[in-house]
Amino acid sequence: MSFPSTICIKSISTRSTRAIAQDRNAGLAPLLVVGTAGTVDTGAVDDLASLAAIAAREKLWFHVDGAIGALAILAPDIAPRLAGIEQADSIALDFHKWGQVPYDAGFILVRDGTLHRDMFASPAAYLRRETRGLAAGALWPCDFGPDLSRGFRALKTWFTLKVYGTEALGAMISRTCELARYLEIKIATAAQVHAGRLEHRARHDVCRARHAVAGAARA
Ligand SMILES: Cc1ncc(COP(=O)(O)O)c(C=O)c1O
Repeated sequence: MSFPSTICIKSISTRSTRAIAQDRNAGLAPLLVVGTAGTVDTGAVDDLASLAAIAAREKLWFHVDGAIGALAILAPDIAPRLAGIEQADSIALDFHKWGQVPYDAGFILVRDGTLHRDMFASPAAYLRRETRGLAAGALWPCDFGPDLSRGFRALKTWFTLKVYGTEALGAMISRTCELARYLEIKIATAAQVHAGRLEHRARHDVCRARHAVAGAARA
């Protein structure tokens, strides 16, 4: 079930609980709650702590779509907005976005490694399982998900972290948010100069503005 982005978390909590109960009464089995740590269009971040509480109360999996926003945890001034992300059962995040890694470098973090491997591990006769030496007990990529053949995304991600460090990456993330706020101020100043109604809002590193002229709306 999806909700309009403007409704408040109290309402989301009530409506989610009702929707979950309705599904269960109808014989369906709700299985997960998904929160966003930053949307593409508006930079909106869900109240992840409240969503975590709903998931815990209803015994559902809590996943966070942090493709864009999860790495904001590296920016001390932005990180508090992600409160609750630490309670996620799984987090998807892209280093090829705020992480400055060349495309593509999508990652997933899963809290329960054993459960994750139990879900995906697929023994194949032609894949050897070493019991001795350095490779003893090593897992194959298909033990973590459907793909067996994968590119070495971890290497460029590792180099990016080594070269820049998490502090510099966090500072860069703060700076992009600061730039969005700067743009918002510029737009607000322009709104005082030009006729018409101008709505604006900066969130994360996204600044949106809508200029309404004589009844017509332009985004
Ligand atoms: C918020 C969000 N979630 C998920 C995705 C999908 O990410 P990917 O294309 O790396 O799978 C994107 C991509 O832009 C995104 O912005």
